[in-house]
Amino acid sequence: MRICVVGTGYVGLVTGACFAEVGNDVCCVDVDERKIAMLQEGRIPIYEPGLEEIVKRNASQGRLRFTTSLKEGMERALFVFIAVGTPPDGTGAADLSFVERVAREIGENLESYKVVVTKSTVPVGTTLRVKEIVGEQVALRGRTDLEFDVAFCPEFLKEGTAVEDFMKPDRIVIGTENNRTAELLKELFFLFTMRENRMLSMSIPSAELTKYAANAMLATRISFMNELARFCELVGGDVDQVRQGMGSDSRIGSSFLYAGVGYGGSCFPKDVKALIASGDAAGSPFSILKAVEDVNRAQREWFLQKIMAHYGGDVSGRVFAVWGLSFKPQTDDVRESPALDILPKLAAAGARLRVYDPVAAENARMHLSEWSGSMEYMEENYEALEGADALLLLTEWPLFRRPDFPRMKELLKTPLIFDGRNQYSPPAMKSMGFEYVCIGRG
Ligand SMILES: NC(=O)c1ccc[n+]([C@@H]2O[C@H](COP(=O)([O-])OP(=O)(O)OC[C@H]3O[C@@H](n4cnc5c(N)ncnc54)[C@H](O)[C@@H]3O)[C@@H](O)[C@H]2O)c1
Repeated sequence: MRICVVGTGYVGLVTGACFAEVGNDVCCVDVDERKIAMLQEGRIPIYEPGLEEIVKRNASQGRLRFTTSLKEGMERALFVFIAVGTPPDGTGAADLSFVERVAREIGENLESYKVVVTKSTVPVGTTLRVKEIVGEQVALRGRTDLEFDVAFCPEFLKEGTAVEDFMKPDRIVIGTENNRTAELLKELFFLFTMRENRMLSMSIPSAELTKYAANAMLATRISFMNELARFCELVGGDVDQVRQGMGSDSRIGSSFLYAGVGYGGSCFPKDVKALIASGDAAGSPFSILKAVEDVNRAQREWFLQKIMAHYGGDVSGRVFAVWGLSFKPQTDDVRESPALDILPKLAAAGARLRVYDPVAAENARMHLSEWSGSMEYMEENYEALEGADALLLLTEWPLFRRPDFPRMKELLKTPLIFDGRNQYSPPAMKSMGFEYVCIGRG
């Protein structure tokens, strides 16, 4: 089938590449000329395991093309997917200007029947707004002969496992207004759910809300565990043991129950904010989600205060090794990463930071340029430890799970670890002579 994907970021590029991988003819469009030039040369602008091979293979076999021209991209397509960003605006609501701009351009360039599918995460009503905008532009051109349908298919991929998630989804949600569109989309997605039908057809508003509800629920679980971890420290519980005890209840399940330094990334923070804003606007406030956000903010601060308290409130002149900058492992995405919140505060308090991340250093460097005088970016994780007063572990990259502890002890000035991801066993750390500060484990 012929597909155009507008926006070649984490979602759009994976979507385009994976559709091409199963034999579709795909054209990816982006306004970012640098990105498109890179992709045309066979280089991918993001780190996502397995993606580069798929992009290269399908581009070389002519099934995957890249352009900055939406007109060119949608010329042959039956489906036009909108996968541009929906960042928070000043009030926390989703900024829909990118989506609306694409809708206008689609209307300006429509020449034959298309299914316009919103894949960006958008508030209830947006897909119908897309329909309105496309229709207005078509009408402005005086074209009464053109038809199109709209749909909303949320994306549930996770950065770091995006290709796998797209190819083998837990479910595919299809929000449509009519059967014709639903059937076309089912045919398109059929290949990804061949083993078991995991397609859920529903109304467009329900589909739009499903995406926000899923992310808000996951963020709620994390904030609940983080608050529980703080309580555990006060009363002598171990949040990891509690996690196992409660997660083994099949009604609860074990996912997203890990306490840490708070959630981050390009989705949870913005989607929680956007749902809060939608609830307020509708006069039906999400008080739970307001608490989820507050707890998340407080969790980062709480971890920072643990560090500060250790030094009697004064970290000036202290040197910290930092392992991990991305908001989670296996991605170079640092949007809303806890590291971007915690490190500037330590730098502002006079600390020096020797940081290492397997792939996110470049992105972090751009976000933290203001603090470049206090930060050194290391090529290798052990190098960061040399002469440092302590290690801060902020992202649970697999590389950090079983490090060479004796070597770490030799390199660090003081054998002290602040572990924001509960990666190590407190008794084992104690027996190796480390002072070990973690989350909710005594
Ligand atoms: N990143 C994730 O893990 C994830 C998962 C599920 C859903 N989502 C949602 O998908 C959407 C996209 O997220 P992302 O992380 O891929 O964003 P991103 O910032 O990585 O990519 C967005 C891309 O859209 C491009 N763009 C902006 N305006 C454009 C226009 N007018 N025409 C063509 N291209 C344009 C940008 O240049 C950029 O390359 C968001 O709504 C997000 O909430 C993201």
